[in-house]
Amino acid sequence: MGDSRGLGNNRTLVTGAGGQLGAYVLEELERQGHPTVAWGRAGLQNRGSIQFVPVDLETADLEECLDQADPETVIHLAAISSAEGVRLDPERGRLVNVEATRRLAGWCARAGRGLVFTSTDLVFDGTRPWSTETDEAHPVLAYGRTKREAEPFVLAVPRGLVARLSLLYGFSRSGKDAYFDRTIASLRRGEPLSLFEDEYRTPLDLGSAAFALVRLAELGSVGVVHVAGRERMSRFDLIRRAATALGLDPSLVRANRRSDAQFPEPRPADVSLDTTRLATLLPDIPRLAVETVMKLSTQP
Ligand SMILES: NC(=O)c1ccc[n+]([C@@H]2O[C@H](COP(=O)([O-])OP(=O)(O)OC[C@H]3O[C@@H](n4cnc5c(N)ncnc54)[C@H](OP(=O)(O)O)[C@@H]3O)[C@@H](O)[C@H]2O)c1
Repeated sequence: MGDSRGLGNNRTLVTGAGGQLGAYVLEELERQGHPTVAWGRAGLQNRGSIQFVPVDLETADLEECLDQADPETVIHLAAISSAEGVRLDPERGRLVNVEATRRLAGWCARAGRGLVFTSTDLVFDGTRPWSTETDEAHPVLAYGRTKREAEPFVLAVPRGLVARLSLLYGFSRSGKDAYFDRTIASLRRGEPLSLFEDEYRTPLDLGSAAFALVRLAELGSVGVVHVAGRERMSRFDLIRRAATALGLDPSLVRANRRSDAQFPEPRPADVSLDTTRLATLLPDIPRLAVETVMKLSTQP
């Protein structure tokens, strides 16, 4: 186990434990031997040092649930995590992404506990590359606005950390397929697909993201940190490189441009993140190349 100022030997609470990143974070906490309480809506089982508690963030008495869980640190992953989800149901987006975060932050501040909140690169408007933690955030998507609105509540917690994640990729370990699984599955079936070549992120594999969140919690890091990959690339580049590494036909992955499509909301063009702070805090974070991540992945 590494430096454990943040987590100590006490409990870590993970919200959104049944999600894509949640499955990887639970594995990382288990690997590091941290006793963990996992909150999700349903369908998770207790295992090893992980105790599952069903909690719906929209309806539960969160303060009561937090008193019962009594965590030293909360790793808060639960969210309406897609731009489309928040656009279509902004009220629910606010309840989960803003209001529940505000209440968790209030409890952590009062109880003197740590809080790691997963925000997003989509807090930026996409007008310039390599945004740093001190650049002004101006979200243009409703989803990004909910995350941006929640950030100050976390930063008001003395032991609060806002981890802004970039686009995450990798095979699901949650038992539910996500974007990446569905994309690779359709390429395996020989179906072509078109992806933007002129919209940029700094994608990060789910394993490295989980490693980073647990290590940052252990270190007790505070403030804002960008948690993203080393390379700036489009979804077209990401999926074509992943397909090639998996032995699939890369010519099935076709490029299109933002001007070819119409969007219900404006989409930021370049939300690549500068990760100088992350590299300083966690010099040993893996952040392997897409090809290496694919070769090391357990494929479904
Ligand atoms: N994946 C990415 O590329 C990415 C990029 C930037 C930031 N993030 C952020 O990282 C975090 C984890 O993302 P993810 O990819 O793991 O998302 P995910 O797979 O959608 O997981 C989010 C989890 O939150 C849970 N949740 C939603 N509403 C809830 C409620 N009312 N009560 C309790 N749980 C609720 C969901 O439960 P159900 O399964 O029951 O719906 C789901 O398990 C999120 O905060 C997301 O915004 C993700």
